[in-house]
Amino acid sequence: MSLSTKHLLGIKNLTAKDIQLIFETADNFKEVLRRPIKKVPTLRDTTIVNLFFENSTRTRISFELAEKRLGADTINFAASSSSVSKGETLIDTANNILSMKVDMVVMRHSASGAPHFLANHIDAAIINAGDGTNEHPTQALLDGFSIREKLGSLQGKKVAIIGDIMHSRVALSNIYCLKKMGAEVLVAGPPTLIPKHIDALGVHVTYNLQEALAWCDVANVLRIQLERQHMPLFSSLREYSLYYGVTKKHLDALQKEITIMHPGPINRGVELSSDAADGRHSIILQQVENGVAIRMAVLYLLAGKGEDRI
Ligand code: CP
Repeated sequence: MSLSTKHLLGIKNLTAKDIQLIFETADNFKEVLRRPIKKVPTLRDTTIVNLFFENSTRTRISFELAEKRLGADTINFAASSSSVSKGETLIDTANNILSMKVDMVVMRHSASGAPHFLANHIDAAIINAGDGTNEHPTQALLDGFSIREKLGSLQGKKVAIIGDIMHSRVALSNIYCLKKMGAEVLVAGPPTLIPKHIDALGVHVTYNLQEALAWCDVANVLRIQLERQHMPLFSSLREYSLYYGVTKKHLDALQKEITIMHPGPINRGVELSSDAADGRHSIILQQVENGVAIRMAVLYLLAGKGEDRI
């Protein structure tokens, strides 16, 4: 009933058994979240700081809610309104916060590897809430959990990850998570947005949207990350949308039902049309709901409470 790791830095270092344990613990927390009183005081002796050096809506609120549901004391830190803007280093910022007796750090940073660096220098358990273009492990866990909830299991399911694979930490974490749990993965998008040699991760590749949609049980559509693109990688958003934007028309043309996912935030009308994002195929808001249970499970297990009764 415990994870094989002290930190959650990425899915790469988790075992299938770890992921299964997180899913089963999240099942219990989903049940707690359906109760009239949605709280269990299991982390009432724990202090957690949410260190966000990059913008976030879903992940930050979801972690904060998960911490509150578990009865933890939480501190929120936004780099833009902190002494980071006066030149304070990451280590100094973290050590100053930890000297106030903090047990766990949830961290988002625009630099790939920032949470790994911090884990080598401080004692608290670190949870990566997204680092640069590297990993976003709790997003992949909630995505995998949502597919398992919808389709019963990940084993043998065909998942297409569509869009800006090159700049996506969600894509990499999803590939690791889905492969470890027995799913088949295909990545689809324009050649300029798919890393060379990605097939070494054991995924299929296509540059054709219709082929990806016809192949999959689940399409996880990703945001075009213009903030990370430092040179033009396609001619215009209009052209991208024309060739790679998923619409209800695509879904209605299929000979089968598929499930549509998106980690958010959505560029509506670019990678996903509103009628597909809000239609019957979509489980986008269930993903957000499941994020709280998954983050409760991760916090609870990393706090070493795996033997306690939920
Ligand atoms: N999915 C996700 O990470 O969203 P936010 O950037 O809003 O946290």
